[in-house]
Amino acid sequence: MQCVVLVGGMGTRLRPLTYQTPKQMLPLVGSPIIEYVLGGLFHHGVTDAVLSLGYLPDRFIEAYPDNVIGGVRVSYAVEPEPNGTAGAIRFAAEYAGIDETFLVVNGDVLTDLDVSALRAFHRDRGAEASIALHAVEDPSHYGVVPTTDAGQVIDFVEKPPRDEAPTNLINAGIYLFETSVLERIDVGRPVSVERETFPALAAEGSLFALADDAYWLDTGTPDTFITANVDVLEGRNGRFGPGHGNVVAGSWRHPSAWVAQDATLRHSVVDRDCVVGAGALLDRVVLMPGSVVEDSATLRNCIVGPGAVIGARAHLGATCVVGAGERVDAGESLSGDVRVGEG
Ligand code: GTP
Repeated sequence: MQCVVLVGGMGTRLRPLTYQTPKQMLPLVGSPIIEYVLGGLFHHGVTDAVLSLGYLPDRFIEAYPDNVIGGVRVSYAVEPEPNGTAGAIRFAAEYAGIDETFLVVNGDVLTDLDVSALRAFHRDRGAEASIALHAVEDPSHYGVVPTTDAGQVIDFVEKPPRDEAPTNLINAGIYLFETSVLERIDVGRPVSVERETFPALAAEGSLFALADDAYWLDTGTPDTFITANVDVLEGRNGRFGPGHGNVVAGSWRHPSAWVAQDATLRHSVVDRDCVVGAGALLDRVVLMPGSVVEDSATLRNCIVGPGAVIGARAHLGATCVVGAGERVDAGESLSGDVRVGEG
């Protein structure tokens, strides 16, 4: 089965990390997110994918010049201009010459969702498009999708207030499309699949949706990005494979990293060429390659970008994000969603 993977977004919620690196190329326990996403799809029988690129496309193309990611053969469709998620799907599907039922995946979602079950459901219902659903506690940040008992979508409500959400089942960012959906997407103007294409299909009764209770996580915010790392460390999304070596006492260190003997690591990731000084404490922290945590610094629920330096005795609390090459001074105290280097 062919697949369109959407990876062209700007990833604004993960700034400043996404100024230099597209979201799906950020490392998750040492390997880019995209390798987990495509590795998971390969496991479910996907052999060919077209990456729908827009923002910083060269970062993908240069990293995978042999056109294979996670076992999947890939091609690269670079949008000439951003035309929304539906515009991106149409452009990529036509670029790849897709001419049969195909899968569409948001490239920042980690999941072990059963693609075969979604396919069988889609065929049985004679759907024009089918959406995988996932149950969450608070659906207000997502597209909420009420259905009939048979799975026919009644409505598609993008980001409703929490107390007005008709169900807690949300759009999991994984779809099956017939090629006829492409003809519905206007060319030459931005079209959102969530705000325009799905509501139109739902109104005609040709959109279906299937709930799945598999592992699912949208990695697109600092908190969920940290959770994604911890979940890999804990084997919760074990199927995604890479990066599992070198986990010691619940944390992962790249063999080239240097960690002082009396430093404490809990549920943390210490990537290539990082340094962690004496007496430092890291709890749910992701250190990206080449970053340095000096002696006695304390970090909780933070992401430290590539080459950044956290000065001695600094305290960083939830949820600090330090951009590439930035410096937090010795003794400084930061917390409360601080972004260092956002500009
Ligand atoms: P935020 O700015 O933080 O919301 O992130 P984002 O830009 O990635 O948007 P969002 O998380 O809503 O996007 C869901 C998926 O669609 C991600 O995998 C994005 O990379 C992708 N995406 C969003 N907009 C576009 C677009 O215009 N073109 C392409 N090709 N992909 C897109």
